[in-house]
Amino acid sequence: MTKALTSSEIRARFLDFFAKRGHAILPSASLVPKNDPSVLFNTAGMQPLVPYLMGESHPSGKRLASAQKCVRTGDIDEVGDNRHLTFFEMLGNWSLGDYFKEDAIAWSYEFLTSADEGLGLDPVRLYVTVFEGDEDASRDMEAVEIWKQYIPEHRIYFLPKKNNWWSPGDNGPCGPDTEMFYDIAGTLGDMTHEEFVAADDAGKVVEIWNDVFMEYEKKEGQVMGKLSQKNVDTGSGLERITMIVQGKTTVFETDVFAPVLAQIQDAAEKYDDQGARIIADHVRSALFLIADGVLPGSKDQGYILRRLIRRAVMRSRTLGLRAHFLADIAALFGELYKDAYPEALDVSIGASISHEEDKFTRTLEAGLKEFEKGTDPFILATTYGFPIELTEELAREKGIEIDRGAFDSQMKAHQDASRAGAEQKFKGGLANSSEQTTKLHTAHHLLLAALQEVVSPDIHQKGSNITDERLRIDFNFDRKLTAEELQKVEELVNEKIREDLTVTRREMPREEAEKLGAEMEFGTKYPDIVSVYMIHDEHDKIFSKEFCGGPHVTHTGLIGTFKIQKEEASSAGIRRIKATIA
Ligand code: ALA
Repeated sequence: MTKALTSSEIRARFLDFFAKRGHAILPSASLVPKNDPSVLFNTAGMQPLVPYLMGESHPSGKRLASAQKCVRTGDIDEVGDNRHLTFFEMLGNWSLGDYFKEDAIAWSYEFLTSADEGLGLDPVRLYVTVFEGDEDASRDMEAVEIWKQYIPEHRIYFLPKKNNWWSPGDNGPCGPDTEMFYDIAGTLGDMTHEEFVAADDAGKVVEIWNDVFMEYEKKEGQVMGKLSQKNVDTGSGLERITMIVQGKTTVFETDVFAPVLAQIQDAAEKYDDQGARIIADHVRSALFLIADGVLPGSKDQGYILRRLIRRAVMRSRTLGLRAHFLADIAALFGELYKDAYPEALDVSIGASISHEEDKFTRTLEAGLKEFEKGTDPFILATTYGFPIELTEELAREKGIEIDRGAFDSQMKAHQDASRAGAEQKFKGGLANSSEQTTKLHTAHHLLLAALQEVVSPDIHQKGSNITDERLRIDFNFDRKLTAEELQKVEELVNEKIREDLTVTRREMPREEAEKLGAEMEFGTKYPDIVSVYMIHDEHDKIFSKEFCGGPHVTHTGLIGTFKIQKEEASSAGIRRIKATIA
């Protein structure tokens, strides 16, 4: 038996095949779309090409092909099975109003089955699905007629829009598609429609390629009519097709992952397949995201990246891997990918992953201490950001039972209360909760804590007022603050903003909050159950804790740049500061 093609060879063969058929080869676009705020990541090869599919002329012509980096996080919880991944490469070829169904299908078939130029797959193991037709477009008999030249008609199945219509979202180019499936074990033979559907459900056949005939347009989820040109958009997941070509039953056994999983297995104290796969998948995604300029953060792409790294850290703890092992895994992936993606070798990637790992480890450790003291899982989750899954795991190790039902209902009540609180504010309670005032509320907490740290621990709030433009705080102090003190206070607030600290909210009886020493304004009447907002610093020490109705930003990084505008006397023994954010 000849040696199976490697994933790099498959990528190269694909691009050569289409270059020979008049296609310009495009480099992969960044994972982060440049001009499309509607999506966080490119999730398909066609995404960077939307304007051209809609009719704009592409500088490289009407026939294009690429291997495009993609991230899809919708299935993040399924990673660890045999084929779900958060990062993958999509091989695709496009016709922008040039060739249509005849050539698209012929070339798909030829690339899949030709041993010389393509993948040499066995045609007897191929099945095809075609759009069955509805009120938007008729049954795709044209595709069937073309397919009949290559495979027997009884292996062509009609399926509804749910399966055989593709669009990138609710708006944009779309159309019926024809999908190719492969019998993994090679034992299925001829199947009826029902048998085919069952084999697909059972994962016995896997989809290996999709040809979309994009001649329609979708607006707000409705197919609205035809585009000015008939396009072809195809896509095949490189990892999945590699699994088929290399005769494996999971993507993790292919050359894309095998060396990495071997390294994890070597180093792990307590190896488990699922944990190792999650680590490998998430680190590979993190690597490519960071290579494309994303950094761990509290929103958008940064938040997804942080979540991927944190999930990998959790698993690396379960497997008993040493600290910063994830960065080694990233470096190994960098080596594996350096020819196709030189950016994967960037040395700052490992450092970013380790930095986030350290940050998360500190949170975990603070939570762990609380856990050992017997703290309630709800408080671990809301105050220490401790994922319930981890609490459960630790509890299992110690033979403690966690009441998951109680936790879930507490969490739900907590979320409902936060939402109701925010809504009430919106209706004109404390202040209006425009984005700017929300940021100023949190800046106000940071400012009070900074005054206590820089100027005097005896400073407390004596009054406050927040508008869209600025915050104002009155506090007890018996002299004017020096320029140096003001500068230090301002710097400390900005430092806490840059550290992007998490702002957490806890509801508790007033007495408990008082015992905790949470800041409260003298003379104000507080209800029996109060909310306390806390901001933990990088070492998980509480930097600020205040009684407050909110609303607040979830992370200090969202605030912007803090500036003290004025410090003056307000009345005897009371000073006043006005500050803004930009
Ligand atoms: N854009 C099509 C897909 O992602 C080819 O399946």
